[in-house]
Amino acid sequence: MVNKKIEINFKEYNNLSALGDQDAELIKIADTNLANSYSPYSQFKVSSLILLEGNINVLGTNQENSAYPSGLCAERVAVFSAKSTYPNKKIEKVVIVTEQGNEFPFSPCGSCRQALMEYELNQKEPIEVILKSGNSKIWVFKSIKDLLPFAFEAEDILKKE
Ligand code: THU
Repeated sequence: MVNKKIEINFKEYNNLSALGDQDAELIKIADTNLANSYSPYSQFKVSSLILLEGNINVLGTNQENSAYPSGLCAERVAVFSAKSTYPNKKIEKVVIVTEQGNEFPFSPCGSCRQALMEYELNQKEPIEVILKSGNSKIWVFKSIKDLLPFAFEAEDILKKE
C-alpha cells in the first residue's frame, strides 16, 4: 500500500483592487447580474459570467422551480447559453459570484464542475475559474481540473485498441 496525495494550487486576493482590471470588471458585471437571480425558494442568489474568446460575455443566474430539481445553477445556465449561442468559441474564464458570503467564497457544485469540465476537455485549453461571495476574498483557479481532480474523461471510453 502506498499513501498518495495531490495538491491544488489557487490564488487568493483580498479584494477587487488586488485583481487585474479585466477580472475586477468581470466580477462587477457578474455582481450586478445577481439582481436577475430567480431564487424565491432558497433566497440564495448566484450569478455567473462566461468569458468567451473575442471578449464575449455571457451571463446566467440560478433559476429555481417549485418542483425543486427542475431548477438550475447559475453556472450551468450561463455555460449552456454560451455554448448554445457560440458553439465554436472557446471559454476563457468563468466567474461565479453569490450575494451572500463570509470570509471565503462558495465554490461550484459537483454537477456544475462536471458540466464545465466537458467543455474544457473538448477545447483542450484550461478554463480559469474566479470565485467571490459577497465581500469575501477572491479565489482564482487556473483550470476546472483544479476543482475536479480525477475527472471522468470520455476519451477513456472512446479509445479503441
Ligand atoms: N446554486 C448555484 O447556482 N450554483 C452552485 O454551484 C450551487 C448552488 C444555486 C442552486 C439553488 O438555486 C441555490 O443556489 C441554493 O442551492
